[in-house]
Amino acid sequence: ERLEKVRNRSIRVARSCKELRGRYDEREDGVYYLTTGNGMLYQTYCDMTTAGGGWTLVASVHENSIYGRCTVGDRWSSQQGNNADLPDGDGNWSNRNTFGTVESATSDDFKNPGYYDITAEDMSVWHIPNNLPLEFWNLEAAAVLRYHTENRFLRLYGGNLFQLFKQYPVRYKVGTCSDRGPAIPIVYDHGDVESTKKLYGPNPRREFEPGFITFRAINWESAAMAICSGVKPTVGCNTEHYCIGGGGYFNPEEQCGDFPSFDYDRLGKEQGWSASKEMTEAAVLLFYH
Ligand code: G3P
Ligand code: CA
Ligand code: CA
Repeated sequence: ERLEKVRNRSIRVARSCKELRGRYDEREDGVYYLTTGNGMLYQTYCDMTTAGGGWTLVASVHENSIYGRCTVGDRWSSQQGNNADLPDGDGNWSNRNTFGTVESATSDDFKNPGYYDITAEDMSVWHIPNNLPLEFWNLEAAAVLRYHTENRFLRLYGGNLFQLFKQYPVRYKVGTCSDRGPAIPIVYDHGDVESTKKLYGPNPRREFEPGFITFRAINWESAAMAICSGVKPTVGCNTEHYCIGGGGYFNPEEQCGDFPSFDYDRLGKEQGWSASKEMTEAAVLLFYH
């Protein structure tokens, strides 16, 4: 039955799921073809339900080994070892490199051309358990956390993350803790401020405010992180325990990786500085609208 729906789905020329929703009245959640401004065809997932639909999956951040130290699979920080001479690490937050496929977005990192090609206004974020098959992603009960923004903040930062992170580089030693990027209020689609707090450890809870998505955080040791999902750092600068992605150098080196120090007090111990096991073992899906 699912394949029958796909069979009936025409290949449209559209640059985003928002365009598929608006111009062609596509309403089903699932995989669609999109086309870049240069005419390159690719496939991704469209959320045609949340807040009127039209959300394009552009990336997923997946932690394949919390014990890795900027090793294989750490595409959103560095796969080249913890190295202060490579302050940008792999540089994927602000380049046109792409990797992965939509169906493997909960099993490995994913980045498609929409990440830099689409001009968007808002974002949504889904934390979905690792390895969950695509046909279950939209079941709200399956999600660890889901939210979206609605203040069109991307208009102020060039229309997408590619441009935002050019303005706020995810780079070691780019600045100090007070030089973080924008913190944007979120609207919850699954979860709330209380459940957000519990996804991270008791110690980080004292240094963030839930109900936001924050871009480009910097910790005490001058390591940069890309996204603090669900929270805004307020006091204290130990952002390695609740922010994801990074540049190419962390101190100590155990912290280098896509989910930098979510396991500081051991994986999923939900004590001290460690994030919860469900958060640590969930992929972070990034959508544009
Ligand atoms: O990020 C926490 C680490 O920097 C030190 O924490 O509590 O061992 O002083 P603590
Ligand atoms: Ca990864
Ligand atoms: Ca620290």
